[in-house]
Amino acid sequence: MFWVDEQNSGSRTITSSNNDDTQEILAYFTRSYCKNKRGTEMEEKILVTGGAGYIGSHTVVQLLEAGLSVVVFDNLSNSSRAVIDRISKLTGSKSLDFIEGDIRDRTAVRHALRDQKISAVVHFAGLKAVGESETEPLKYYDNNVSGSVVLLEEMMKTDINTIVFSSSATVYGNPEYSQYHEDTPPAPANVYGRTKLIVEDILRDLKKSQPSWRIALLRYFNPVGAHDSGLIGENPKGIPNNLMPFIAQVAVGVRQKLSVYGNDYPTPDGTGLRDYIHVEDLAAGHLATLQYLKIKPTLLTLNLGTGQSYSVLDIIKAFEKASGKAIPYEVVGRREGDLAEYYADPSLAEKILGWKAQLGIDRMCADTWRWKKNNPAGYSNIK
Ligand code: NAD
Ligand code: WQD
Repeated sequence: MFWVDEQNSGSRTITSSNNDDTQEILAYFTRSYCKNKRGTEMEEKILVTGGAGYIGSHTVVQLLEAGLSVVVFDNLSNSSRAVIDRISKLTGSKSLDFIEGDIRDRTAVRHALRDQKISAVVHFAGLKAVGESETEPLKYYDNNVSGSVVLLEEMMKTDINTIVFSSSATVYGNPEYSQYHEDTPPAPANVYGRTKLIVEDILRDLKKSQPSWRIALLRYFNPVGAHDSGLIGENPKGIPNNLMPFIAQVAVGVRQKLSVYGNDYPTPDGTGLRDYIHVEDLAAGHLATLQYLKIKPTLLTLNLGTGQSYSVLDIIKAFEKASGKAIPYEVVGRREGDLAEYYADPSLAEKILGWKAQLGIDRMCADTWRWKKNNPAGYSNIK
């Protein structure tokens, strides 16, 4: 098997068939990704849909720091314009553009792809609240599925065939085992998860019909944490659905106490176990994926997690340690649809990309706390 670097070094041909070589090749591309022969920056422009959101904003920072140009395309339905200013401040980069637009708006998507001369798309835009997806399924199918179809059709028309898609561990549903491998048959148990699996299926079908496409389906586990500057972080609107942002709001005094959803699970302390992954590690996973797709026209399906699970009580304790604040909590009944435990088998991402999560639970809590302490109202008090 041989891979040719079509876009970067021009004539370089890499012959490889095993993973040791993959490491070497990735190291080469990490060094040279953004440089042309004169050592100046290449015109690599990435369209990041949903780039003003939580995971998107952290990924945009790392893309800019790697020397890439970025166009954020976001309808701001769950984010703020202030994020873009924060990213500019953080990176000092002049290579960031922002388009306020909806991925279902064909004309806006077409202009963004064509006018900006985009080379690859990282597709975060989507709705993600599991409960809401059950009560408003059409909103989720429209936004997450129809929106993705419009984006892909317009990519096809503009000859852009590299996409990294935000999928989720939710696609696995409730398998027999708690450690999810990419081969675990997906069977999502809610509408949100089904929208993610449908888009995965669309992309698998697209790859079959158009072998030149370069596609990554990244299944995130439980993203938490924030950039260590304290300038960007997770900013949920209304009452947070997820554990870490809720705890952060309790620590900062916005909410009185946390409800712990059940302590009668078959786990060591009775509370649910999850694979929390620092958003900075997740962002780095996207950069590694883009680098890989650049050298290999393939379809990747990868778990992005740590492989380790922590209980709700573990997270409370770690957050108290990081913040010096007590987190009052009350144990209430189980939340419908919750599982006792799930965590990633992250070994495939390490084998293929050479990527591995680095940051542990203490960093996840310390960085979340710094962000929350500095921005108790999130971005809402920022113009
Ligand atoms: P987020 O809500 O913070 O970011 C999503 C962004 O997409 C927001 O800025 C929102 O305004 C934008 N958006 C939504 N619909 C859009 C549309 N139609 N057109 C343009 N922009 C639109 O969420 P996040 O946590 O950063 O998640 C990013 C992606 O990762 C989502 O697709 C989500 O489903 C997926 N994911 C998230 C998690 C998680 O726990 N955070 C886990 C697994 C997968
Ligand atoms: C973690 C643990 C709760 C809140 C969700 C989505 C999933 C993915 C990640 C997008 C569980 C407990 C929580 C609270 C609690 N997102 N908990 N009190 O449910 O693992 O995954 O986010 O793709 O699709 O389902 O994450 O943070 O909500 O819950 O006790 O107020 O914390 O029961 O054990 P979850 P979570």
